[in-house]
Amino acid sequence: MAVVLITGASSGFGLEGALAFARNGDTVYATMRDVAKCGRLQQAAAEEGLSLRIKALDVTRPQSFDAFIRAVVEEAGRIDVLVNNAGIVRPGALEDLSESALRLVMETNFFGPLLLTRSLLPVMRAQRSGFIIMMSSLSGLAGLPGDLPYAASKFALEGATEALRHEIDRWGIRLALVEAGMYATAIFDSSMVGEALLPSDYPPDSPYRPLVESRLREVRDRRSQAFHPRIVGELFVAIAQSDGKQFRWPADEVATRVLGTMLAQDDVSRDQFLRMVAGADWWSEGKNHAD
Ligand SMILES: NC(=O)c1ccc[n+]([C@@H]2O[C@H](COP(=O)([O-])OP(=O)(O)OC[C@H]3O[C@@H](n4cnc5c(N)ncnc54)[C@H](OP(=O)(O)O)[C@@H]3O)[C@@H](O)[C@H]2O)c1
Repeated sequence: MAVVLITGASSGFGLEGALAFARNGDTVYATMRDVAKCGRLQQAAAEEGLSLRIKALDVTRPQSFDAFIRAVVEEAGRIDVLVNNAGIVRPGALEDLSESALRLVMETNFFGPLLLTRSLLPVMRAQRSGFIIMMSSLSGLAGLPGDLPYAASKFALEGATEALRHEIDRWGIRLALVEAGMYATAIFDSSMVGEALLPSDYPPDSPYRPLVESRLREVRDRRSQAFHPRIVGELFVAIAQSDGKQFRWPADEVATRVLGTMLAQDDVSRDQFLRMVAGADWWSEGKNHAD
C-alpha cells in the first residue's frame, strides 16, 4: 500500500483525505501546522479504527521541508503520494489588502505546495514513481472581484503544475489538479463569513466595501448548498490510484460545468461568464447596490 503525505489535515479536505487514504489501507502522514488541532482527525480515525501518523508541517516554512521529507523516508522507506492541500483565503479589494496579506496567501497556496514538491522530487525520481496532487479551485480558472489574492495564488499553482507536469513525467511521476466547487469547510469561517462579513480590521471607509460585502453575502447565502468535503477526500484516493493521464479533476457537477466553460472560451464570452458568476455588473456600471 502507498505512503501518503497530506498537508492541512486538521480540517476540511485534508482531514477527509487523510481518513480516506487510511480507509484504503495506506500509510498516512497527516500533517498540520499546529498539531494541537489534531483532535477532530484523531477522534474520527479512532471511531473507525484507523491509524494515522500525525506530524507538524507549516507550508509557509520551506526551510523545514528537506529535513521533514528525509525523516518520513527514513521512517517509511518511501513516499508515493503527496497531496498539497493546505490553503487560506483573504477576501478584499487590492487597494484594501496589506502587502503582508497578499504575500501570506501566495506563501501558503503557491510557494508552499511548489517548494514542498521540489523537496520531494529527488525521492520520487529515485523511486521512479510518485503521484502529486495539487488542490486548486475554480478560482484558479476564473478570477473574480473581491477575491484577488486567492485567485492569483491558484492561477499561479495551475500554471506551475501544468509546466511541471512534463518536466517530471519521464521518471514516472504523475501530477493532477483538483478543481472544486463550494464545500462546507472551515475556510469560510476564517475571515469570510461571520455576521459582519468582513474582518474588524477591514478599512471602514473603503470605496470597495459594497462590492466586497456583496460578494461575501452571496458566498454566505450559497453556503447551504455547499458540498460535503468527504467527496474531495475520496477523490484524492481515486486520483492517486489512476493512471495519471487525466490532469484536471473536477470534484463535482459545478466544477465540471465551470471547467467545460472556462477552458473553451474566447475573451468576450469569458468576460461575460465572469461577470455573470461574480454578479457584479451593478458595480462596473457605477451603481451603488446590487439591486
Ligand atoms: N472549501 C471550498 O469550497 C474549497 C473549494 C476549492 C478549493 N479549496 C481548497 O481546498 C484546500 C483545503 O481547504 P478547505 O476548504 O478544506 O479549508 P479548511 O478546512 O480551512 O482547511 C485548510 C487547511 O489548511 C491548513 N493550513 C492553513 N495554513 C497552513 C499552513 N501555513 N501550513 C499548513 N497548513 C495550513 C489549515 O490549518 P489550520 O487548521 O491550522 O488553519 C487547514 O487544515 C485549500 O487549498 C483551498 O484553497 C476549498
